[in-house]
Order: sequence, then structure tokens, then C-alpha cells
Amino acid sequence: MDKFVITGGKPLMGEVSISGAKNAAVAILPATLLAGGPCVIENLPNISDVAASVHILHEMGAQVKMLDAHTLQIDTTRITSTEVPNELSRQMRASYYFLGALLGRFGTASVAMPGGCNLGPRPIDQHLKAFTALGAEDAVRGGMINVEAERLEGNHVFFDTVSVGATINAMLAAVMAEGMTVLENVAKEPHIVDVANFLNTMGADVRGAGTDVIKIRGVKKMHGCTYSIIPDQIEAGSYMVAATITGGNVLVKNVIPKHLEPITAKLERAGALIEEYDDAVRVCRTGKIEPLNIKTMPHPGFPTDMQPLMSVLLTVARGTSIVTEGIWENRFRYVDELIRMGANIQVDGRVAVIEGVPELSAAPVRATDLRAGAALVVAALAARGTSEIEEIGHIERGYEDLVQKLQGLGADIRRVSIPEQTLAQAL
Ligand code: EPU
Repeated sequence: MDKFVITGGKPLMGEVSISGAKNAAVAILPATLLAGGPCVIENLPNISDVAASVHILHEMGAQVKMLDAHTLQIDTTRITSTEVPNELSRQMRASYYFLGALLGRFGTASVAMPGGCNLGPRPIDQHLKAFTALGAEDAVRGGMINVEAERLEGNHVFFDTVSVGATINAMLAAVMAEGMTVLENVAKEPHIVDVANFLNTMGADVRGAGTDVIKIRGVKKMHGCTYSIIPDQIEAGSYMVAATITGGNVLVKNVIPKHLEPITAKLERAGALIEEYDDAVRVCRTGKIEPLNIKTMPHPGFPTDMQPLMSVLLTVARGTSIVTEGIWENRFRYVDELIRMGANIQVDGRVAVIEGVPELSAAPVRATDLRAGAALVVAALAARGTSEIEEIGHIERGYEDLVQKLQGLGADIRRVSIPEQTLAQAL
């Protein structure tokens, strides 16, 4: 296993280009199962969650051709299996999208309980509620979730919780169901709109994505297409925080500034100066970091995936900040690691009270999940001294070329191998 070695204290300067959105890619890849022909997917991020999705498609019998580093041609016309076994499913949470896509295409799917970040309980009751409303039956047997329908028929679904995954899965299952499906109280994240746009490019009739109600008129057949994935809002936000905390000046390129608004608004209040261009934002800071109160909420609220990164920024604000996690039960596990770096944070349930300190100091730390890991990288970039971050596999699930991109901005970061300790050496 490798680790990151980061010497902090250098302001980040220059330009960075943002990759395609992870959370759109991991839904769009399974959605290719619905096409009646080859799809060309552009702007795919080169990250391990995407590799895991492609691996699953390949194992099912899809023909996958790499056209360039970020473009794949995927032909799912000759799929031989409708099952995603345990060893593949556990690699990432988003394997649940194979349920909706396989159900939509074949009327049957069997997917092992998904893995992914441990952020507290991650139920899928709302996904199953939508499948059942469309006429499917579900059962959990031997760690596998099985869904099956003789015929899928459009229906009205009111979600009890706003869920990104359930909204997308319901769309995947409904696009070829008979008649009209109305989904209410849906998620509105930019990647929901991206998946709907992809489905429409394949011939589906999905309207209203990005609002609280999505209407889907079932179509008989869908076709292959060429589609380019939107830029990753959270990767962009991560570099924006890194530029702000280090007092740098960074042009974050290949973004959709509108998608960044909830992040931009908070960063400006914290003291960042942000200029928006058509497809880029420039972020710099010269003054102090101001404390903030933040509560994470579904889009267009402040995104939970930015919460650990924003908390890191607030550890060095001049005053007290309150961060409330509104989505996940257990998203403060990284706080213990930040305390090792000199942060002053008290967590009570879903609320963290952060007392700003003058600076963070380097420490050996461990990434507990994807965004927590990214947050520790940002903390290390700002801290005095050399930090080592272990368990970086979590970070590589979602950040393409993190080391190269940060080096390009002048950061002192290296990836080094941790030699395996033998029993003899340990004694
Ligand atoms: N929930 C239910 N029942 C369900 C589904 C969700 O109660 O059937 C609850 C969850 O327990 C949670 C809330 O609803 O409290 C929101 O969960 P959601 O379903 O929206 O999350 P998700 O689809 O599993 C995606 C992202 C996460 C991101 C959340 C929230 C993907 C692959 N993952 O997860 O991203 O935090 O939406 O925006 O799209 C990350 O990228 O680091 C990450 C964790």
C-alpha cells in the first residue's frame, strides 16, 4: 500500500483542470446497459470507482474499447449475465445502479450488497420502493439483493427521503416501463440532470430532472449514443478549498460555475476571492480566513461531500465555526485525524464545533473515507512540516491524478510505497 508524503506551507499557484464527475460516471456506465447499441462515453475520470464499474460491465459480457484516456466505447448488446457478484459489488457503493439498469433492460437483477465509504447506515429502502411501485418484487438472499418483474409499468412514486441513488435508480428502471412514471421529492444534484440527459440522448423521455418532480414516459427501445460527462463539482470544490487555505491563486478549469455556487458562496464568506468565467473559476485569498456556520443539505444546499474539506478550512479560521451534517449519520470520523494535526474540534452527534487555531502542524494520519482523505491532503498542504497520509486507496476512488495535479500547482507531495513488514522484522 502506498502513502502520500506532503510538506505543507506552500501557496498553490497556477492552473488545474477538473476531470469528469465521479458520481455521474458511476451511474452513466451501468446506464449503458439500457442501450440497444454501442455508447461512446467521453470525459470519464480515470479513478478506481470508474475502473470498478467498467470491470463489472466487462464481466457481464459488455464489449469495452478504450478510445482514449478518458473515452470508452461500450457495447452492452450481448450481455451474458444479470448478476453482480460480491467481490465486484463490494468495491464500490454505486454498484447498486446495476439493479435499476438491469431491471430496466432485462426485468431481473441480482447485485451483492454494495460496499463504499462508511458514513453510517446506508439503506436502499427508497430504491426498492421505486422498483416495487413499478411492479418488481425484491428479496435479499445470501447477501444478494434480487429484483424481478414480469413487466414494468409506470407509476407514481413519492420518495420519503431525498436520495441521489434512489432517484437515479428509479429513472433507470422506469425509462422502458410501460406508460408514465412520476417521481416526486427527488434529488436535484447536477449529476441527476446529467444522467437524465444521457438517458434522453439514448432515446428516453425524461423531463423535469433538476426540479422536485421527474416525469418519465416509457419508451419501447433505446439506442447507443455519444455523451460527455459533466465536470466533477466536488473535485473542483476540493481544489478551491486547497487554494483558499494555502493563500494561493488557482485557475480551476473545465468546470460549470453554476454547479459550484453553493461552494463558491461559502468560500467567499470565508474570505476567498472568486472570479467566474464561462468554464473556469479563479480562486485566491490574501486576507484572513473567517469562521462560518454550515449545514449540509441536498442540492442546491451545501454538499455533504464538501463538508470534511470545508471543516479543514475552518480549523484555521479566526474564530468559532459550527458545521452540521444534514445527510449522513457518521461523517466526522476524520476529526480525530485532524486533532492529531493540532485542530481544535468538538463533535456532538451531527454537529462539529471548530475553534480556529493559528496553524495546523504535520502528523502521520489515515484516510478514513474518500472525502475525509481529500480533506487530510488539504490539511497537510496547509500544515507546518511533513505529513504522511495512509490508506490512500480511498482517495484514489474519486480523485484523478491527485499527485500530478497538485504538483502542477507547486505543492510538495509525493506518493511513496510502504514496504510490507514481515513477521521476522516485527519481532
Ligand atoms: N437514504 C435512505 N434510504 C435510501 C437511500 C438513502 O434513507 O433508500 C438516506 C441515506 O441514509 C442518507 C440520505 O438518504 O442519509 C442521502 O443518501 P443518498 O441516497 O442521496 O446517497 P447515495 O446516493 O448513496 C450519493 C453519493 C455520495 C453523496 C450522497 C449525498 C454516489 C455514488 N454517491 O450517495 O457521494 O454523499 O449521494 O449527496 O453518487 C462521495 O462521493 O464521497 C459520496 C459519498
